[in-house]
Amino acid sequence: GAAELGPYRHFMQKEIFEQPRVIGDTLDGVTGVMPELFGDGAYQVFKDIDRVLVLACGTSYYAGLTAKYWIESIAKLPVNVEIASEYRYRDSVPHPKTLVVTISQSGETADTLAALKHARAQGMEHTLTICNVSTSAMVRECKLAYITRAGVEVGVASTKAFTTQLVGLFLLTMTLAQVNGRLSEEEEAAHLKALRHLPASVSAVLALEPQIIAWADEFARKENALFLGRGLHYPIALEGALKLKEISYIHAEAYPAGELKHGPLALVTEEMPVVTIAPNDALLEKLKSNMQEVRARGGQLFVFADVDSRIQSSDGVHVIRMPEHYGQLSPILHVVSLQLLAYHSALARGTDVDKPRNLAKSVTVE
Ligand code: G6P
Repeated sequence: GAAELGPYRHFMQKEIFEQPRVIGDTLDGVTGVMPELFGDGAYQVFKDIDRVLVLACGTSYYAGLTAKYWIESIAKLPVNVEIASEYRYRDSVPHPKTLVVTISQSGETADTLAALKHARAQGMEHTLTICNVSTSAMVRECKLAYITRAGVEVGVASTKAFTTQLVGLFLLTMTLAQVNGRLSEEEEAAHLKALRHLPASVSAVLALEPQIIAWADEFARKENALFLGRGLHYPIALEGALKLKEISYIHAEAYPAGELKHGPLALVTEEMPVVTIAPNDALLEKLKSNMQEVRARGGQLFVFADVDSRIQSSDGVHVIRMPEHYGQLSPILHVVSLQLLAYHSALARGTDVDKPRNLAKSVTVE
């Protein structure tokens, strides 16, 4: 009811603003790498695996894609991420030393549960779920579980569940790295410090809301949008596009910026806003040349740039500066600004933000 909403207009907005708190809750009591965070016997399981297979749907799938970048880079284990509804019906090559990770807010998504059973039926017994509901079927079905502390999520478009999944997946990355002998004490301490600082950093991103509202008023008049990201931020571009289409009904697509010239550039005109995630990382110079390709075709760029990335506003280039450069955890900050962009674009279009047409919070049938 209205009372639960407090000062917010929709549950989605409330849930976006709860993120500093629920991320803090998720980290409560975490003092370092602790395999038992993932359940009894987790250490033995992590010792016994040599690869990871992530199974999920929707926003949870994009959390898995982000984790692939982390785990391969930090823990040096190969990771496959599969859409549950595809995996369950295709012939794949099982490997007994696989850690099967399902990611699910609800723990009841029919396709993800069926994909898990499919993996088990092929002899993969090492199962872990990253899940927001401790009493769910998914938690019962998996050997190991990590329960995110997002609290009840009401808005159909997932927000706080996603960022707490990412926190859980980063902790999993650190744990796998340590078990694999890939994490020094210094690295562990540095990652922990960065995690602990997240609530403050996310709050600083939320403070960008007025600037994002100004962009959303322009977006609301468009019928298409393109989202670009590279590396770790490609999955975040996908999630930003998904949020926008789910609740504003603006057609949105995401591309890794390097693929621009292999297709989507043909769509770029003055009518096409191009949202660009531009963290100050190794790929920034390449991203800048992708941005020039867009500008040369008259495309309007909406850039979320890191504080130190030296991208300036100019004709057709709108820049919002992110408060901090955040290294490996940067996706957690960038997604929050994209959530706000989608929310305010939908608000400006007058759609039913918490209950978008044709969509359900939890898809428990195929
Ligand atoms: C539905 C929801 C999405 C969610 C997806 C997977 O499509 O609308 O927000 O990401 O299901 O749900 P799960 O509960 O498994 O994370």
